[in-house]
Amino acid sequence: MAGKWTPDSWRSKPIRQVPEYPDAAKLASVEETLRMMPPLVFAGEARSLKKALAEVAEGKAFALQGGDCAESFADFRADNIRDTFRVLLQMAVVLTFGAACPVVKVGRMAGQFAKPRSAPTEVENGVELPSYRGDIVNGPEFTAEARIPDPDRMIRGYNQSAATLNLLRAFAEGGYADLHKVHQWTLGFVNGSAQAAKYQEMADRIQETLGFMEACGLTGDRVPQIRKTAFYTSHEALLLPYEEALTRVDSTTGEWYCCSAHMLWIGERTREPDEAHVEFLRGVGNPVGVKAGPGMTADELLRLCDALNPANEAGRLTVITRMGAETIGAKLPGLIRAIEREGRKVVWSCDPMHANTVKTASGFKTRSFDRILQEVKAFFAVHKAEGTHAGGVHFELTGRDVTECIGGSQAITEARLGDAYHTFCDPRLNANQALELAFLMAEALKKERGVQAAAAAAAG
Ligand code: PEP
Ligand code: CO
Repeated sequence: MAGKWTPDSWRSKPIRQVPEYPDAAKLASVEETLRMMPPLVFAGEARSLKKALAEVAEGKAFALQGGDCAESFADFRADNIRDTFRVLLQMAVVLTFGAACPVVKVGRMAGQFAKPRSAPTEVENGVELPSYRGDIVNGPEFTAEARIPDPDRMIRGYNQSAATLNLLRAFAEGGYADLHKVHQWTLGFVNGSAQAAKYQEMADRIQETLGFMEACGLTGDRVPQIRKTAFYTSHEALLLPYEEALTRVDSTTGEWYCCSAHMLWIGERTREPDEAHVEFLRGVGNPVGVKAGPGMTADELLRLCDALNPANEAGRLTVITRMGAETIGAKLPGLIRAIEREGRKVVWSCDPMHANTVKTASGFKTRSFDRILQEVKAFFAVHKAEGTHAGGVHFELTGRDVTECIGGSQAITEARLGDAYHTFCDPRLNANQALELAFLMAEALKKERGVQAAAAAAAG
């Protein structure tokens, strides 16, 4: 039986992936400072996202979540924020228009700093140092000094998140996301590619549709969705001292919300039901996610549903599967059947990145576009076979013209990985690769919705 929850009840549980701060007094003082800082998001916004995700759980919408593997202090620039935002906007419009399906947009942005690591230390040229755990914990430079966890980094992470969120809100609501600008969202370097041509063609049709709607009196003044969009933020709730300090009581409901982002998720390495990370997230009212790797059993998943969503509220829990292209077909059906049998309400999302990572002979961590696509396709196929909704996807991507993942229509080769390899952690899709995936997913989603519509017509 779960005991009483408080924002710090996680502290009495076993915990993994925790940084060892050498200066406990400094850590406590930073936590106190953060407790005084304004919340980054409001409970009401987190509830709106939960409502939007409930639509996804019910098969009426699709969830698109994406952004950097790790945001960094060094890459903090308006251009980078804008470019990631516009790739997500483009993908969303491709899915919305291509599959006639509402898309819930969630960035891995404005707080995605802390990283779980597969080993506590790293060795380079015979030197062993503590692993880099994300800019909110320590520095990426391979020096003993940089790798010491520094609590002040939490303040910098908070400030960067606040500024990022401020810009995202301006982009989403201040005119940039106006559908009339659909042509202008294309990033310069995508121009001339097959994806760009396809996108421009679709943008022409959207423009034409908007013209028709305006002629009928449906203008941006009357239909605000034409002028602005809802955009939400999310990150892995890994660094619990930071998350606890930003957890506040919502004055309208008396419930606790973690106000560092709209949605928080638990990673594959910290999802034990009796441990600290599950304990922390079970008590906050935000929509939450949990990663499900190839080792997740049906019983474990049901226990996580009990812990994280005891009221079985639609939109509260997103299961983000990250099984691997070869494994998803064998593992996902069992999980879906258990959830269906028990009548649990979840959003199923597919992260085709984290179980498809390889290291090249030259030392680059990379992912092949084909395997990413294969996992996404298998995700849609399994859900189709089970009669359930392929609810969403979770990507690591960037608007920058990087060469971090192999393949795609630009045919990035292993030899070219070094050309523009900028990630601080895992390899990301670039804008071209992300757009290519969006077009392919729109097709799959359109088929799923065609089947749904036919079934509804037959039943009705
Ligand atoms: C991540 O999403 O960056 C991550 C570390 O994923 P996972 O917990 O699934 O390995
Ligand atoms: Co990652």
